[in-house]
Formats: sequence, structure tokens, C-alpha cells
Amino acid sequence: MTDPTDLNAQQLAYWNGSGAEMWVARQQQMDNALAPVSRAVLAHAAVKPGEVVLDIGCGTGGTVLALADAVGPSGRVIGLDVSAPMIGLARSRAEGRANVSLVLGDAAAHPFEPGSADVLFSRFGVMFFGDPVGAFAHMRQAMKPGGRVAMAVWQPALANAWVRTPLHAVAGIVAIPEATDVGLPGQFAFGDANRVAQIMTAAGFSPPSFTPFTFPMPLGRSVDEAAQRASEFGASGRALGAQPEDVKAAAVAAIRAAFAPHANAEGFVALPGAVWLISATA
Ligand SMILES: C[S@@+](CC[C@H](N)C(=O)[O-])C[C@H]1O[C@@H](n2cnc3c(N)ncnc32)[C@H](O)[C@@H]1O
Repeated sequence: MTDPTDLNAQQLAYWNGSGAEMWVARQQQMDNALAPVSRAVLAHAAVKPGEVVLDIGCGTGGTVLALADAVGPSGRVIGLDVSAPMIGLARSRAEGRANVSLVLGDAAAHPFEPGSADVLFSRFGVMFFGDPVGAFAHMRQAMKPGGRVAMAVWQPALANAWVRTPLHAVAGIVAIPEATDVGLPGQFAFGDANRVAQIMTAAGFSPPSFTPFTFPMPLGRSVDEAAQRASEFGASGRALGAQPEDVKAAAVAAIRAAFAPHANAEGFVALPGAVWLISATA
């Protein structure tokens, strides 16, 4: 079994390296793509003026700004992230907002003010802890008794058509490796609702509720662009990793054929993304 400290360190390195590059370079594009998720998790959080909200793994700060509007001048939003480049961009976007603090730190270890937060909020920022029970128990200490959790996490990879469709398209061309990362930190680590419920209750939260939410995940401005990206990134990209160019070309053609029915009149391709909206109390 991999040591939780090593797993955490790997994530820290990733989010200060290649993981951050894409999110910083494509901040506007990512915020546009994930706007439906923001709206859904913000509605779930039902934040009120004057409340104190922790935005865990706040990244480049899109949800911090929306939360700051919701809590108003008498409230406070603390956005926390391990990624120096991402928190740097969040700070410049939040300049002049007196009710926002942006903190560089590991949510599993940061010395939060105990019993201070009304809401623990996150859009896709809580799936990367080496020791998730320890991390959630630590974050719970920062909350007022009865404080609310409102988080968006991805459902399992294969429940997401935007992952499944290109992966199935290349399955006839290359061998798809068995998933070896079940239970390890990563994008889809909180897909299994039973596992998440165990983590959260072991950390002292109430049994969480899971509301499924789907939205059109944008994949590219054309079928060609979407197919090219899917052949380079994500599960399908990893499956094609070291293949020769002719195999990759065949895979791109197969993905293009699978994506074509999902293009709109302008050629733009989107496929359903499947998310859990998680609620619980501290
Ligand atoms: C998928 S990104 C989501 C960013 C942002 N919430 C959004 O929706 O745009 C995941 C974020 O979690 C952050 N993260 C990962 N592990 C973390 C940890 N242990 N403590 C704080 N932030 C962490 C990453 O640096 C990254 O910004």
C-alpha cells in the first residue's frame, strides 16, 4: 500500500507543476465549462449573507468570487489551495475584495481557526488527499457545530460519458489498462458514494447525502479538436500514450466518429458529465 504522506507529496508536486499549468492557462475556458457545476453546488450550499465559508482546493478562484458575492460584506470567504500558481491567479482576480482571503496551504494540515466556518465548500477540490479520513477530520475542526458541507465531486470515470465515449472508441484499437488507481487520490477518487460516506462519517460528519447532477461537458469547438484532445489527455490519452503514430491516427479517427453525433449545429462537441453534489453537517 502506498504511504499517505507520499501520496500527498505527489499531489502537492503535481498541483504545483503540470496540474496547475492547464488550469492557469485555461482559467476562463474551465470556469465557463464548469459554470453549471458552480451554480448547482452554490444552490446546494445556500450560503447566506454574513456567513464564513471555506472553499477547499479553490484553484484559480472562480467559486471564491461567487461565494464572496453571496456572503456579502459582513461575511468572509477563505479560499485554500496547495497550488502556488493557482492561488496566485486567484489572488489577482480577488484583488480589492475585503471579504476574501486566499491561503496557500494543504487543507489536511492548515491551522484553520477552530469552530469558525459555517460552510465547507468545494468544487472538485477534495479528491486528492493521501489520508482522506484524516483530512476531513482536520477540516471538521474548522467548522461550527452543525456547519454545512456542500461539495461537487465527479461520479466514477465510466459513469461520465465524456470519459467513457472516447475510451470505448479506442478499445478496439489498443488494450485498455485495468484501473489501478481505485481508492487512490485523483480526479475520480470520490466517485464511489459508499466509500465517501465511510470517509466522512469516520471523520465525524453526519452521513452525507448524494444528489446526482449532470451537465454538458464541453470537449472542443469542433469534432477534430475534441478528438485530438481526447487522444492526448485523460483515460483515452493515457491508453494511447506510447503507441506509434499510425495507431494514434486510427484512434483519433475512431474518437472522431464517436464524437460526431454529439456535435451541435456550430460543430461544438459536449457530452454528459456526471457529478455528485454532497451535503452533510459537521
Ligand atoms: C480539479 S482542481 C479544482 C479547482 C477549483 N476548485 C475549480 O473548480 O476550478 C483541484 C484543486 O484542488 C487543489 N488541491 C489538491 N490537493 C489539495 C490539498 N491537499 N489542499 C488544498 N488544495 C488541494 C489543487 O491544487 C487544485 O487547485
